[in-house]
Amino acid sequence: MLQLACLLALVGIAASNSLAQQQPLSAPAKPNVIFILTDDQDAHLDSIAYMPFVQKHLLNRGTHYRSHYCTTSVCCPSRVSLWTGKLAHNTNVTDVNPPYGGYPKFISQGLNDNYLPVWLQEAQYNTYYTGKLFNVHTVENYNAPFAAGFTDNEFLLDPFTYDYLNSTFQQGRESPQSYEGEYTTDILTKKAYSLLDKAVVAQKPFFLTIAPIAPHCNVFMNGTGLDENPVFSFTEPIPAKRHEHLFENIQVPRTPSFNPEQPSGASWVKTLKRQNETNVEYNDHFYRSRLRALQAVDELVDGIFARLQDYDLLDNTYIVYSSDNGYHIGQHRLQPGKTCGYEEDINIPLIIRGPGIAENKTTDIVTTHTDLAPTFLQLLGIPLRPDFDGEPIPLTQADIEVADSKRQEHVNVEYWGFANGEGKYDFDLSAYNHTYKALRVKGREYNIYYSVWCNNEHELYDMTVRLFIFMVLRHLLSIDASKEKADCEQADPHQLHNLLSTDDKENQTSHAILGISLPKVVARLDSLLLVLKSCKGQVCVKPWKALHPQGEVTSLKDALDTRYDYFYKEKQTSRVYFDECARGYLLDVEGPQYNFESNDEGNSFIRDGLPWYEWV
Ligand SMILES: *[C@@H]1O[C@H](CO)[C@@H](O)[C@H](O)[C@H]1NC(C)=O
Ligand SMILES: *[C@@H]1O[C@H](CO)[C@@H](O)[C@H](O)[C@H]1NC(C)=O
Ligand SMILES: *[C@@H]1O[C@H](CO)[C@@H](O)[C@H](O)[C@H]1NC(C)=O
Ligand SMILES: *[C@@H]1O[C@H](CO)[C@@H](O)[C@H](O)[C@H]1NC(C)=O
Ligand SMILES: *[C@@H]1O[C@H](CO)[C@@H](O)[C@H](O)[C@H]1NC(C)=O
Ligand SMILES: *[C@@H]1O[C@H](CO)[C@@H](O)[C@H](O)[C@H]1NC(C)=O
Ligand SMILES: *[C@@H]1O[C@H](CO)[C@@H](O)[C@H](O)[C@H]1NC(C)=O
Repeated sequence: MLQLACLLALVGIAASNSLAQQQPLSAPAKPNVIFILTDDQDAHLDSIAYMPFVQKHLLNRGTHYRSHYCTTSVCCPSRVSLWTGKLAHNTNVTDVNPPYGGYPKFISQGLNDNYLPVWLQEAQYNTYYTGKLFNVHTVENYNAPFAAGFTDNEFLLDPFTYDYLNSTFQQGRESPQSYEGEYTTDILTKKAYSLLDKAVVAQKPFFLTIAPIAPHCNVFMNGTGLDENPVFSFTEPIPAKRHEHLFENIQVPRTPSFNPEQPSGASWVKTLKRQNETNVEYNDHFYRSRLRALQAVDELVDGIFARLQDYDLLDNTYIVYSSDNGYHIGQHRLQPGKTCGYEEDINIPLIIRGPGIAENKTTDIVTTHTDLAPTFLQLLGIPLRPDFDGEPIPLTQADIEVADSKRQEHVNVEYWGFANGEGKYDFDLSAYNHTYKALRVKGREYNIYYSVWCNNEHELYDMTVRLFIFMVLRHLLSIDASKEKADCEQADPHQLHNLLSTDDKENQTSHAILGISLPKVVARLDSLLLVLKSCKGQVCVKPWKALHPQGEVTSLKDALDTRYDYFYKEKQTSRVYFDECARGYLLDVEGPQYNFESNDEGNSFIRDGLPWYEWV
């Protein structure tokens, strides 16, 4: 069974590699962008399979970036990273609420003058937005100050943002208007169409963002959203009436990590009890409610394409579809929610369609939300900014093929504060001490998740699915295949076996990655995470260069070369470590910080321009 999975994975890779058409971007000078940003939409619970119009207009006609990641898996920090091109440790908007996050923190960090809509306007673009911008953007603070950078806007405001049947929108410089009793996505759809009409009438290139709240859970907030201790009550998302009976028998996919018999994860996650039948049934209902709530978004997508067609704009408009963060329901026994570093929460949809973009293609190159602002600027011919923590996503088939071997293989994931479930069985189970730093490394020959929690527990999942056919080939070539066979059988794509679990000593010693023992691999991963946790700008894109300034190491595989064993064992000895669990990004408790300065020319392990191993 596993071997069949291995084989299928190979066939998938071969198929995506075989199409090498050159399709240069051929758009006229000033294209438009429509960015559809859903809220909490997963890439792992099959939501897109239930969205026929997203499939028809986007998947079938665009490129699907299957290895797209958010870098902080909760709304506000993720959205701020997306709009600024900076990791949360560089925006210091690390939470949904003040004092560490929310709209007030976005403002106090000076980001309202320094984010994508403002840059687009400076480049003569008209900018339009409807839907949720940030958390704690409320009926009280929306004008103090107004969000900068929009030609026109129809923002959803707290405390009504996630109230599917009692939303409040705020247009331009007007007062907020309540739509009590109407269905939020349908109102938003009308507003999106009307903003598109305005954009077309203005006869200027435009960037229109449509940010519905589906499939986020429904939230009733008692208060303004700005209160000291806001009271929230969460329920499953509410579909439009016309969709409420769909998908009667559909359940959360029963993958191996769904409500598993054995606990998994680390810290508070591994203490979770297995969910009983009542709980699982409710979570299936929650899941169906998400799929139903997404139907109105799917219709909106169809309506947008119909209008683009009518306006004859399809040839000059890029349509980008994504979500702020992912979602889990039941995996690792978790109640419905996000905020974790597991694949369900961080790996999210990204589909791009437009002139020059390959149709009906998928790619596994690694991309993140910090790449989106640079991508948009490049797409629209606007110079990039030097302080971006990401870099443009390759869009043409030719550029994607180059990136296949050249692009970064890492994602830096970070989180501060608390986690809470959004279903009905754990509302009181807010997990504080939910601060962690993590790393995804997805190379051709390995697929790894590594994390350090603020209680200093570690996680390592070897998600590599070794390819069966390589094993057969090796066997035919009389190379000893027993090692690879063992590796294939050990693959853990569902992140169920923490190789660094304190109660699993056996695996720590026996497991190998690329045939190399875990301690050596972990030394590299931890050093990479140490660099990334406080990186800025290009260092975040090319972190190995901080460790190996000569630039000869660009991947985990390079760094695993035995000639660096001494360096990682004896020289690079600082480890990612927390002194305590803080609710925000407090440097004092974040352990050792990588000294980037000393690694420029003249750094302690470079002499006469030579790295240490040349002169030791
Ligand atoms: C998309 O590609 C798949 C194979 O990769 C093919 O089966 C399918 O028919 C294609 N769909 C369209 C609309 O071209
Ligand atoms: C909508 O919100 C207002 C303000 O809190 C409240 O008075 C009203 O009862 C709500 N309506 C519904 C249908 O929930
Ligand atoms: C909202 O909060 C106030 C003050 O804490 C309380 O009196 C009221 O009952 C709450 N209303 C609801 C619907 O929870
Ligand atoms: C199932 O689990 C939930 C959540 O822990 C609990 O509230 C409920 O009482 C349990 N139901 C049964 C039938 O055991
Ligand atoms: C070691 O890991 C493998 C899979 O990676 C798992 O099947 C096995 O149960 C683990 N052993 C222990 C002692 O946890
Ligand atoms: C959080 O961690 C601190 C130590 O950093 C510990 O004292 C506290 O009990 C933990 N809280 C919870 C809810 O686990
Ligand atoms: C981030 O913001 C918090 C809250 O304002 C502040 O206490 C902290 O020092 C800031 N962190 C950094 C690294 O600037």
